[in-house]
Amino acid sequence: MTPLWIIPAAPSTTAHLAYLPAMHHPIDLASVDHVLRTTRSVRKALDLSRPVDPEVLYACIDVALQAPTGGEREGWRFVVVTEAAPKRAIAELYRRAFDDYVSLQPDSPATQRPNYRLLADQLDAMPALILACIEGRPEPGNTARAVAHYGSILPAAWSLMLALRARGLGSTWTTLHLAYESEAAAILGIPPDVTQTVLLPVAHMRGAVLKPAARRSARELTFWNRWGETRDNDG
Ligand SMILES: Cc1cc2nc3c(=O)[nH]c(=O)nc-3n(C[C@H](O)[C@H](O)[C@H](O)COP(=O)(O)O)c2cc1C
Repeated sequence: MTPLWIIPAAPSTTAHLAYLPAMHHPIDLASVDHVLRTTRSVRKALDLSRPVDPEVLYACIDVALQAPTGGEREGWRFVVVTEAAPKRAIAELYRRAFDDYVSLQPDSPATQRPNYRLLADQLDAMPALILACIEGRPEPGNTARAVAHYGSILPAAWSLMLALRARGLGSTWTTLHLAYESEAAAILGIPPDVTQTVLLPVAHMRGAVLKPAARRSARELTFWNRWGETRDNDG
C-alpha cells in the first residue's frame, strides 16, 4: 500500500512531519484545495489588536521549510518583526515605496483600490511582519542561477502564507519595500550577502471571507508538447 502524508492537526514541533504509512489518515483533498484556492491577500478585516503567538509562527515556518531548497542548502532565513520601532521603520520604507509606485503607476489596481493604501498606512500596526530572506545574491544575467536563488525561498514563502491562512492568520504577499532593500537591511541588521524577498504582514483575520479569485483556466494557459498547442479534444 502506498503511504500517504499525514496532515497534522496542531503541529508544535517538527516531529509531526514524519513520513508514515497513513491508512487511517487519508489526505482531506477538499480542505487542502480549499486552502490553496482561497489564500488571498488580506489587507482589511484584520484584528490589529490581537498579538500573534510566536509558537504558531514557528509552526507555520516549520511547514514552510518543507518546500524545495536548491542543492539542499537551506539558505532560507525568516526575520519576524514584532517590536514597534523596527516595524515603524520598515512601514515608513514601505509607504515611501508605495508613494513612489502610485506616482509612477497612477492607473494600476494598487493605486486605484483603497485596500492597498490601507495596508501601506497600517503596516506598522500589524502584529508581525515576516521577511523571507535567502543567503547569497542573485547573479545578474544568469537565468538558471536566478531561478535557483529565488526558487530556494519563494516556494517556502508561499507555503508560509498558506500555513498562516489555514490557522486563521491573514497576510499579503508584498515586495514594495525592496525598492529600499539596503535601508531595510540596516534597520534589521541583515548582512549585505543576504537577499530579502517577500514581506508578509501577519494578523488574525476578523471575519474576512476568502473566496477563489477569478482567474483564467488551466485549459487556456496550458500547452502540450509544443508552445501554443492545446490538446486535440479541448473545447
Ligand atoms: C510579485 C508580487 C508582488 C506583490 N507586491 C505587493 C505589494 O508590494 N503590496 C501589496 O499590497 N500587494 C502585493 N502583491 C499582491 C498582489 O497585488 C495580489 O496577489 C493580487 O492582487 C491578487 O490578489 P490575491 O493575492 O488576493 O489573489 C504582490 C504580488 C506578487 C505576485
